[in-house]
Amino acid sequence: MIQSLSRRTLAPSKPVGTLADDVREGLLKQPMTLPPKYFYDAVGSQLFDAICATPEYYLTRHESALLARHADAIIQHVRPDCLIEFGSGVSRKTRYLLDACPRAEYSPLYVPFDVCADVIDTAGNELMRHYPWLKVLPLVGDYGAGLGNLALGGSRALIVFLGSTLGNFDDESGIEFLHEIRHTMRAHDYLLLGADRVKEPAMLHAAYNDAAGLTAQFNLNVLEVMNRELNANFNLQTFRHYACYNVHAAQIEMYLASAVNQEVAIADLDLEIKFARGDAILTEISRKFTLPSLDNLLQRAGLSRVAHFATPDDAYSLVLARPDHHPGFPRLVK
Ligand code: AVJ
Repeated sequence: MIQSLSRRTLAPSKPVGTLADDVREGLLKQPMTLPPKYFYDAVGSQLFDAICATPEYYLTRHESALLARHADAIIQHVRPDCLIEFGSGVSRKTRYLLDACPRAEYSPLYVPFDVCADVIDTAGNELMRHYPWLKVLPLVGDYGAGLGNLALGGSRALIVFLGSTLGNFDDESGIEFLHEIRHTMRAHDYLLLGADRVKEPAMLHAAYNDAAGLTAQFNLNVLEVMNRELNANFNLQTFRHYACYNVHAAQIEMYLASAVNQEVAIADLDLEIKFARGDAILTEISRKFTLPSLDNLLQRAGLSRVAHFATPDDAYSLVLARPDHHPGFPRLVK
């Protein structure tokens, strides 16, 4: 008999727009943009999982390999009594860290933190079945809604933020987010960050243009989300997935481009949007990092890197960071 998990909800500590707010704001400005978080409805989450298994999308495999190889060192260094994971999803990669805990004679509390209550419950139950020693305390909430109400448990917490999701933030909001994380941290807490690295454009391009077309479906699915949630009438046949690597900005830019001149109605917003052929919505940026650009980001957020684990070809990195101890902290340097 599996005990049911007592799930908690993280109350927002800053205002966040609803889908309606974000769509109105994003589609009324030039260039048009949409926040990537709306990709992840049930279908989108499944598509993302499928993307992770494509031969082109190396990120997940590299990150898993790094975790498998270095989990023991990470756990022994941090000696966590609480492990909290932002955007935990099905907690698949977390298992490498959890596997290492009993080997180091630690049995930390695991706090999976995700927007999706269903996925977190399923994952939590499965983890408790697999790790009888594990205490799981799921936390439901949007980490984009502020971390002001987040209190880290135990006395040494390891905050885990994987998947290179930090890459979805632009420079300013990325620093702001890391700074918020920094503010929740105490002197002996650590942050484990997964980060995709700058590399040959062709490899990056392929990762976001898989031959099976799953990334295209994933991208187009956000139109379906607006059709369903806002009574919009986007015709998915008339939009094209376009993803390219902007070498100077060191980021993948993912767009939905209209293949025809058309008008789209978003009934719930009382809005009609005109698209000329070729007009495009920026649906995601995915930044790629160098070790110096990562260090710079961390440093500006009041964190310093204490360990770095990279794949042999520097294709992907795991970085372990802790609060820096410069006098005068906290401060936010932009
Ligand atoms: C989950 C945000 C890290 O940016 O690589 C995958 C999402 N987008 N393919 C990424 C994504 C297109 C992914 N992150």
